[in-house]
Amino acid sequence: LFATGGEFLKGVVAMSGMPPSDRTEVCFAGRSNVGKSTLINALTGRKALARASNTPGRTQEINFFTLADSHYLVDLPGYGYANAPVAVVAKWQALLKAYLSGRPSLRRAFVLIDARHGVKAVDEEIMTLLDRSAVPFQTVLTKADKVKEEAREESLDRTRAALARHPAAYPELIVTSSEKGWGIPTLRSAI
Ligand code: GTP
Ligand code: MG
Repeated sequence: LFATGGEFLKGVVAMSGMPPSDRTEVCFAGRSNVGKSTLINALTGRKALARASNTPGRTQEINFFTLADSHYLVDLPGYGYANAPVAVVAKWQALLKAYLSGRPSLRRAFVLIDARHGVKAVDEEIMTLLDRSAVPFQTVLTKADKVKEEAREESLDRTRAALARHPAAYPELIVTSSEKGWGIPTLRSAI
């Protein structure tokens, strides 16, 4: 599946622009700057397939990438980012929620959590939306290279406790570092 890399298909700003629901689809959701776009690049082995940046709010559309002839990888705009015009943020968030709750071919959402910060209120909100929409989700800890092993274990325990409250959550977490390549094979096999 990953041998062919991946290709950018399109950026979507409204539900009406979505490609047909004719492939297996997984998406990457998470707070701004958590590392969604970087993770897609690590997964596909392509440096700049998805645009990543140190500035939160980089991804402003729903970006579809094709994988082989069978899958879509979907890069979502971040949530919980308040440092943009209110009306603009409201528009992304509405689109994000419409997508997460109403996309027929969405098979699994990966919810990315910064290993340094753990699950925040905005993450809980998204997880509850996924519960209600019956979209199975799996949590991915990102930037594991930035925390010491002890802090990583603590972060894992707290995250597991938070997941136990969500019926749509897979119990297994995936710990990743796009920088070091940690967890990338595990995530590929989950997809
Ligand atoms: P938005 O599109 O704004 O929602 O952000 P995003 O979640 O797509 O984050 P992005 O991939 O743009 O990464 C944000 C920053 O984190 C970039 O500067 C990345 O280089 C950095 N980053 C991402 N993953 C890792 C990682 O595993 N380790 C380290 N050290 N840095 C990372
Ligand atoms: Mg992004």
